[in-house]
Amino acid sequence: MLKDQDRIFTNLYGMHDRSLKGAMKRGHWDGTAGLIALGRDKLIDIVKASGLRGRGGAGFPTGMKWSFMPKVSDGRPSYLVINADESEPGTCKDREIMRHDPHTLIEGALIASFAMGANTCYIYLRGEYIREREALQAAIDECYDAGLLGKNAAKSGFDFDLYLHHGAGAYICGEETALLESLEGKKGMPRMKPPFPAGAGLYGCPTTVNNVESIAVVPTILRRGAEWFASFGRPNNTGTKLFGISGHVVHPCVVEESMSIPLRELLETHCGGVRGGWKNLKAVIPGGSSVPLLTAAQCDDAIMDFDWLREQRSGLGTAAVIVMDQSTDVIKAIWRLSKFYKHESCGQCTPCREGTGWMMRVMDRLVRGEAEIEEIDMLISVTKQVEGHTICALGDAAAWPIQGLVRAFRDEIEDRIKARKTGRISAVAAE
Ligand code: NAI
Ligand code: SF4
Repeated sequence: MLKDQDRIFTNLYGMHDRSLKGAMKRGHWDGTAGLIALGRDKLIDIVKASGLRGRGGAGFPTGMKWSFMPKVSDGRPSYLVINADESEPGTCKDREIMRHDPHTLIEGALIASFAMGANTCYIYLRGEYIREREALQAAIDECYDAGLLGKNAAKSGFDFDLYLHHGAGAYICGEETALLESLEGKKGMPRMKPPFPAGAGLYGCPTTVNNVESIAVVPTILRRGAEWFASFGRPNNTGTKLFGISGHVVHPCVVEESMSIPLRELLETHCGGVRGGWKNLKAVIPGGSSVPLLTAAQCDDAIMDFDWLREQRSGLGTAAVIVMDQSTDVIKAIWRLSKFYKHESCGQCTPCREGTGWMMRVMDRLVRGEAEIEEIDMLISVTKQVEGHTICALGDAAAWPIQGLVRAFRDEIEDRIKARKTGRISAVAAE
C-alpha cells in the first residue's frame, strides 16, 4: 500500500483548500523557475527515466512522446494540448484532479510546455464537467494574477499562455485527433494517423496531446526525482496511479496507489471489498469500458498494471475498475456498452458505423435469449471485421468487450438461449 507521504494528489483526501495559497502550502509552485532552468533536454530525460507512461489509456511513454516535438522551430508554433475530455464509462479520475488539485495540473502544463517548446497550451475539457471548469478557470485566473502564467511565467523567462476550452459532450472528442478538429472549430471526427500530432497537430503545427494525470504528476516527479517515481510498481509499469473504483464494492472511490498493486488489495484496502465478500465476485472490467473483462478466477491473482493485464488479453486503460458481483446480468452489462459505442460512433468509417449497429443488435438478442446459438460465432466474426479496420480506436473499443464476454461467459449466453427456447425464462427487458 502506498504511504501517505508518497501520494502526489494529497488534496483528493479531505478536500482542503484548493486555492493557490492552499496549493503553495502543500509545496506546489515551489521553485518552478529552477525546474524550468534545468532545460528542455534534461526535463525530457527525467520524465523518460521515471518510466511515466500515458495515463489516458494507451500507456505510450510520455518522455518519448515529448521527444518527438521539434527542437528547432521551422516557423510553426508548437502546442501542448491537455486531454481533459474524460468520457470513458467508469472513468472519473481526472475529474478529481481538476476539482481538488487544479494547481498540480497548471504547474505541470507550464513545465511540460517549456520542455516541448510550446508557448501555448489548451486544456480541452469534457462538456459535462461544469464544476471542474469553474475550479480550473479560477485557478488559472489566480495564476495570471500572481505572474505564474503569462509573460515571464513564474519568473522563468518563458512566456506561456494557458486556455481552457469547454467541449460540447461528445465521447469521440476524447480521441486525440477528433479533439484537435473540435478545438479548431470543426466537427469532432478522428484523423488518419500518421501523421501523428507531433508532426501535424493543432492547425497543422507540432502538437503533443497528453492526459490530465500524465501532466499533473510531472512537477512532483521533478521535485522528488525520477528514481522515486520509478521505485513504485514494476519495470515498464512504474509510478503512482489513480484508480477509480465503481460498481459492487462497499465504498466506491478514486484513490492514488502504487502501480502494479494486486486488484484484491486495491479493493479490500480502499473500498471495503466486494459487496458480499470476495466469493461474491463475478467479473471486473479493470480499465474502463474499452477493455475486456476479467473473470473472478483471473481476479484472484490480478496485478493492476499495463503489462499484466495485457497478458490476460485485457488492459489497464484508464484504470477505471468496474466491479460486478454475482447479481450482475453480465450479458446485459456488455450490451449496454454496445449501445454506448453505437451511439458515440462518428460514422466516418464503414466497419465502425455499420459494425457497432450489428454488434448492438445481436447483443440485444442475446440479452433476451432470443438468438440462435450460431449467432454467437457470427457476433465474434463481426467483432473481428471491425477490430483493426477503423480510423480510430473506437471500433476496437466496441469489439473487445464483446470478445471478452464470449470468451468468459459463453456458457451463460448459451444457457439463456436454451432456456428461452424451452420456455424456462421469458424475455428479459433490455430497456
Ligand atoms: P494510440 O496507441 O494510438 O496512441 C497513444 C498516444 O501515442 C497518442 O498520443 C499517439 O499520438 C501517440 N503515438 C502512438 N504511436 C506513435 C508513433 N508511432 N509516433 C508518434 N506518436 C505515437 O492510442 P489512442 O487511440 O490515442 O488511445 C486509445 C486509448 O484511449 C484506449 O486504450 C482507451 O483506454 C483510452 N481511452 C480513454 C478515454 C478517457 O476517457 N480517458 C476515453 C476513450 C478511450
Ligand atoms: Fe468514427 Fe468509428 Fe471510424 Fe472512429 S472508428 S473514425 S468513431 S467511425
